[in-house]
Amino acid sequence: MKISRKSKILVTGGAGFIGSHLVRLFVNKYPEYKIYNLDKLTYAGNLENLKDIEDKPNYEFVRGDIVDGDFILRLFQKEQFDGVIHLAAESHVDSSITNPMEFIMTNIVGTVNLLNAAKYIWQDNYQGKKFYHVSTDEVYGSLGDTGLFTEKTAYDPHSPYSASKASSDHLVRAYHDTFGLPIIISNCSNNYGPNQFPEKLIPLFINNIQNNKPLPVYGKGENVRDWLYVIDHAKAIDLIYHKGTIGEIFNIGGNNEWKNIDLIKVLCKVTDKMLGRDLGTSEKLITYVKDRAGHDLRYAIDSSKLQNELGWEPSLQFEEGIEKTVKWYLDNQEWLENVTSGDYQAYYEKQYGN
Ligand code: NAD
Ligand code: TYD
Repeated sequence: MKISRKSKILVTGGAGFIGSHLVRLFVNKYPEYKIYNLDKLTYAGNLENLKDIEDKPNYEFVRGDIVDGDFILRLFQKEQFDGVIHLAAESHVDSSITNPMEFIMTNIVGTVNLLNAAKYIWQDNYQGKKFYHVSTDEVYGSLGDTGLFTEKTAYDPHSPYSASKASSDHLVRAYHDTFGLPIIISNCSNNYGPNQFPEKLIPLFINNIQNNKPLPVYGKGENVRDWLYVIDHAKAIDLIYHKGTIGEIFNIGGNNEWKNIDLIKVLCKVTDKMLGRDLGTSEKLITYVKDRAGHDLRYAIDSSKLQNELGWEPSLQFEEGIEKTVKWYLDNQEWLENVTSGDYQAYYEKQYGN
């Protein structure tokens, strides 16, 4: 009798914010899979995020760079993955404005290296194979006061980050249309929750509130984002990976739009309460600064396809999610200190110093 081996799934960027929640979910939920976490461990990748599962028998960490095509091909030849869930990316819009080339290399060239390796080892025999590309709603550009992004909205990216993600999405689609590669893509709205690197709005502001540092609001703070708790994103990826039809695109969103300034006031209130400070203390830290170049006004997602076809819905209300998030950062000082030392200080000075 043939002994069937465990299905092997490669997750790229698994030491990052969303990737670490996804890896934990898959390792715990699917003992029948072997999960490989491939990560370069840039400033945004942190193995501390996965301490609780690193000794599990169905988990393996591989350090490597997706931009290195030869390395990627050798890895695929050695491990013969059955599935790929691709999250590795440069992900911060502000950094893409100061250093676009990193984004072109990792987000575009890195994605093509993975597509080429998958195509090569699967040798056009795609039965049971899947290449899942994790993308962002930012590829659709900016909305006015009304309307929602659907899966049919034309791409109109404005930042080097969103343009590089749009490019990678097009390439993934092209490998499906040209070579029949079995792909799925999802485009998700802004995530929040534990383990997010404090360059992004929510963890940066919680950290600054704690340290009584200014809260730098870009422009008038009127830009709108649709926020989703990171574990709900991970659960959506799980559902789409297993139940989504090959070749399809799914939008994922929280149906939870907030103007930046309103969200920041909620953050101040929740954090003040948890720190036992007088209400209103942290709002005084709000400082309006020069707007981000090319700043998209509003993102909002229509995720009815995912809800109607696969029955997904976000599990957490925003109030509960934001309280859990603030509590996590306040309880995890060591994590914050580790990731905000060294290079972070230099980044912060450059981005926000005068
Ligand atoms: P992140 O920046 O927290 O993590 C990215 C991870 O990729 C890090 O662990 C980093 O070390 C790794 N990485 C970077 N370059 C690499 C390379 N060349 N080779 C191998 N590994 C490399 O990002 P995130 O917020 O977790 O986002 C993950 C994915 O989800 C990205 O593709 C992003 O575009 C997408 N996304 C993010 C959001 C969001 O709100 N954060 C929303 C929608 C989609
Ligand atoms: P961010 O977390 O960088 O996510 P994205 O740009 O991918 O949506 O920013 C969220 C919003 O917060 C965005 O409109 C920019 C704004 N913002 C600030 O006002 N100040 C800041 O210091 C940062 C990092 C973001």
